Amino acid sequence: METFQAQYDRYRAAVEEYLQNLFLRDRPYGRLQEAMRYSLLAGGKRVRPVLVLAFCEALGGEIGRAMPLGGALECVHTYSLIHDDLPCMDDDDLRRGRPTCHKVYGEAMAVLAGDALQAEAFRLISHAPGLSAEQRIEAVHTLSAACGGDGMVAGQVLDVEGLAHDEASQRDLCLRKTGGLLGAAVDLGCIAAGALPERRRQAASYAEHAGLAFQVRDDMLDVIADQTEFGKPIGSDRAEGKQTFADLLGLEGCEKLVAEETRLAKEAIGDFPGRAFLLELADSLADRRK
Ligand code: IPE
Ligand code: IPE
Ligand code: MG
Ligand code: MG
Ligand code: MG
Repeated sequence: METFQAQYDRYRAAVEEYLQNLFLRDRPYGRLQEAMRYSLLAGGKRVRPVLVLAFCEALGGEIGRAMPLGGALECVHTYSLIHDDLPCMDDDDLRRGRPTCHKVYGEAMAVLAGDALQAEAFRLISHAPGLSAEQRIEAVHTLSAACGGDGMVAGQVLDVEGLAHDEASQRDLCLRKTGGLLGAAVDLGCIAAGALPERRRQAASYAEHAGLAFQVRDDMLDVIADQTEFGKPIGSDRAEGKQTFADLLGLEGCEKLVAEETRLAKEAIGDFPGRAFLLELADSLADRRK
């Protein structure tokens, strides 16, 4: 039987291979492609595309069909990170263990590389081989809702404007900022597998709880992680005057919340076929160090 780690590595290797082949062509404006690939291929855990492939496979789909959807999602995620690090946002110099995109290519190019990654994501979905036109439209709907004006971008607005001062509003912020793209991940996997509505609902609930746990853990790691392992600056939230779950609940409170949300995530897929990997993934994200 394939171990959890072997399965993660198999998905991750497939994702890396897919991403390696994007944005390769020589262009007169080649620095744009270089900046896009610099951030896209800088490592990263690839949690979102791994979730796409894992949900697709758990529901009996072929991962080859899900791959363009996972790749598109990773492009959107990478765009969100490039913009998140800009001086006008979190003003961070380190990402995925390397200098941030704007540090290497300048702010204008970093903005543009993010813009291009977002648009290219939807191009990848629009001609994803092996999916029906309905599946592609559904995927566009899912991803655009997750990253758009009521999704990830809305979460970033609540974050940069400092609009979340209590637990309920911080929860809403995290669900939009981070839960949205994790929700898109599981839904894209379901779409590629042609899953039934009930399975999609269960998957959405898993992602909502795992997504909240993921951001709370990220807020904790901003305080307690080892910078080399984390690949991002420590103390960035405080330096930027951000109020996060770490301030609201303290580290112990955060730990409890992560444990509870992880339990709820696992419960949501209690009768899922092929759930062993998804259960272990939720646990591994809850105590991750990076
Ligand atoms: C970082 O996401 C941004 C958050 C939503 C916390 P990840 O922790 O998935 O970052 P990478 O992709 O592994 O670099
Ligand atoms: C940002 O949250 C999540 C995004 C939508 C990019 P953070 O600002 O906490 O993410 P990191 O810690 O910089 O990765
Ligand atoms: Mg941020
Ligand atoms: Mg940030
Ligand atoms: Mg953070």
